[in-house]
Amino acid sequence: MKNYKRYTITSALPYANGPLHVGHIAGAYLPADIFVRYLKLKEKDVVFICGSDENGAAITIQAKKEGRSPQEIVDTYHTINKKAFVDLGIDFDIFHRTSSELHHETASDYFLKLYEKGVFEEKTSKQYYDEEYEQFLADRYIKGECPNCANPDAYGDQCEKCGRSLSPLDLINPLSTLSEKPPVLRETKHWYLPLQQHEKWLREWLETGKIDGVEQHDPAEWKKNVLGQCLSWLNDGLHERSVTRDLSWGVNVPLEGAEGKVLYVWLDAPIGYISATKQWAADNAKDWKLYWQDEESKLLHFIGKDNIVFHCIIFPAILKTHGDYILPANVPANEFMNLEGNKISTSRNYAVWVHEFIDDFPDKIDVLRYMLCANMPETKDSEFTWDDFLAKNNNELVAILGNLVNRVAVLTHKYFDGVLNGESNRVDWGKIDLEFGKDGFASKVENSLEQYRFREALNEVMNVARAANKYLTDEEPWKRIKVNEEETADILMACAQIIANITILIRPFMPFTSEKMIEIMNLDSDILKWSNVGSNSIVKNGHRINKAELLFEKMDETMIEEQKAKLVTDNLEVDAATNTVPEISFDEFQKMDIRIGTIKEAEKVEKADKLLKLKVDLGTEVRTIVSGIAMHFNIDDLPGQQVSVLTNLAPRKIRGVLSQGMILMAEHGDTLDFIVPKNGISDGSKVS
Ligand code: MF3
Ligand code: ZN
Repeated sequence: MKNYKRYTITSALPYANGPLHVGHIAGAYLPADIFVRYLKLKEKDVVFICGSDENGAAITIQAKKEGRSPQEIVDTYHTINKKAFVDLGIDFDIFHRTSSELHHETASDYFLKLYEKGVFEEKTSKQYYDEEYEQFLADRYIKGECPNCANPDAYGDQCEKCGRSLSPLDLINPLSTLSEKPPVLRETKHWYLPLQQHEKWLREWLETGKIDGVEQHDPAEWKKNVLGQCLSWLNDGLHERSVTRDLSWGVNVPLEGAEGKVLYVWLDAPIGYISATKQWAADNAKDWKLYWQDEESKLLHFIGKDNIVFHCIIFPAILKTHGDYILPANVPANEFMNLEGNKISTSRNYAVWVHEFIDDFPDKIDVLRYMLCANMPETKDSEFTWDDFLAKNNNELVAILGNLVNRVAVLTHKYFDGVLNGESNRVDWGKIDLEFGKDGFASKVENSLEQYRFREALNEVMNVARAANKYLTDEEPWKRIKVNEEETADILMACAQIIANITILIRPFMPFTSEKMIEIMNLDSDILKWSNVGSNSIVKNGHRINKAELLFEKMDETMIEEQKAKLVTDNLEVDAATNTVPEISFDEFQKMDIRIGTIKEAEKVEKADKLLKLKVDLGTEVRTIVSGIAMHFNIDDLPGQQVSVLTNLAPRKIRGVLSQGMILMAEHGDTLDFIVPKNGISDGSKVS
């Protein structure tokens, strides 16, 4: 195994076109932050790089959607996301921006260097052009029917229904999303990277970890899901990729005759890692080149699985072609995190948004970090559920870690005025189901972390707390105190040593909790070194600890009810929007009792912008129904409106109101309308 002098660690630059959700955090940011914090506890030389991805069509499309300029969009979301990371304790050394001058210059120079080496092929081809808007259309600006699954709304780069990656020319009956008219084909010139020329060395590098027989990394350390995806790309054969686009937002192509063209965002964004490092180095009197060009630096990219090809094939090809750069030693990509049984969807607002979580649970950041780590999609897709959030808080954090620290602090104050009078060398350590020293629990956690198995590592940390809890319960200091004060003091001392260990071990995962533990245990932050893990003499005899303070608070159902309700209403929209429903039998259809009713009263539901509480007359009875239509109608217009109601939907509480049924709506894009009989009909009539 190679010995590295320093680490360059990156997390995928999030597009500054929207806020972050928990899936992003579990995928690319939390694992990187845990790993970096661990390395820093080991006193390694590390730089942790991230920033906003602010170029390309992802930004201009959002700008058009919001009716704002691209600059306003990136300014807004850069600020929101930067703050979200700070609040979550994701502690980048720099959070840079690809709209910065330094980045434009860096990316532009990089392109020129490759251009001057004669790397690119220059080609003219026909591409779609919108005559009304007088511009070429980026792939995402073209919609049409998917040739694979017949989804009528596939994009020019990908079909979101079947997942097939597409090129705009594959689409059947394409339409420009700008003018909604069919685009025409026009000639345009672009620069291409002949990726197929890189196939051979990429295969050797990925399969054996060597280049021309010289070892670069150990492929056994790479995740199977990552290698698998890479090799399948290679087996399908690599093709040339254009590295420029006809677009007005991004890094201009620095060549004559390239007016109106910018670098392809996937060329410039990874170079954003380099420009961010340059900025950090300038701010901190460091040499950026060491982190990118020295063989003794270990480059690691933390990303989600949708970014694998860019980080394992295209960016390495770009780095290698340049000649001066090192290649990533590993790309520990994660799979996706789903939410309450459905795919997280940014466009459909089906997500747990980080900035909203922070507003709703400002003191539960570490609970989120814990729960996201415990459910990290390391080897396969995983799931976020609010019930699990509650369970992890109550059954693990409160019951195990919180309970341990609280009992030790309370008992030490009760019996010894807060002073740890015990003697570590008198403790019978054999009674605790833990192995101290370098080869015990310390190495277990360390091995898991080194293999990017964060779930396992966290569980090992909790096992240390479990063992201490069990020891405390078995030894019953509350009984022992009556017969032997010295032994009681030793038991508490043993626990305090373990808590000191956990304070270090837990820090990468839950930095805020570790900080609280430092305070409660009155520890010096000097102890926060990985080299102390495994020691049973971190705390000195006679050490005084502070008064107990709860590390975690027990939560109840009502605290997550609102969060669940938010997803229920949004989820209805998801189901309506994805027309991927399975076939059902007539019997199944018959199970639905749909009736006509008339809205009698409508009122807003407190603290829920989208929800209305409606009283609906169904002929024989009046029902209360909560409906997510508040944004679409004027509340005063609703009384008297006839509607269709699914009456036998299981009642459920939404924001504290019991909803007995569901109003059926027709939906297209942002438009919602009621489904009503054309000529009116008496309330209670059945729809069948
Ligand atoms: N913005 C991209 C995404 O969110 C990730 C860019 S990663 C980088 O999928 F390599 F380009 F930086
Ligand atoms: Zn498809």
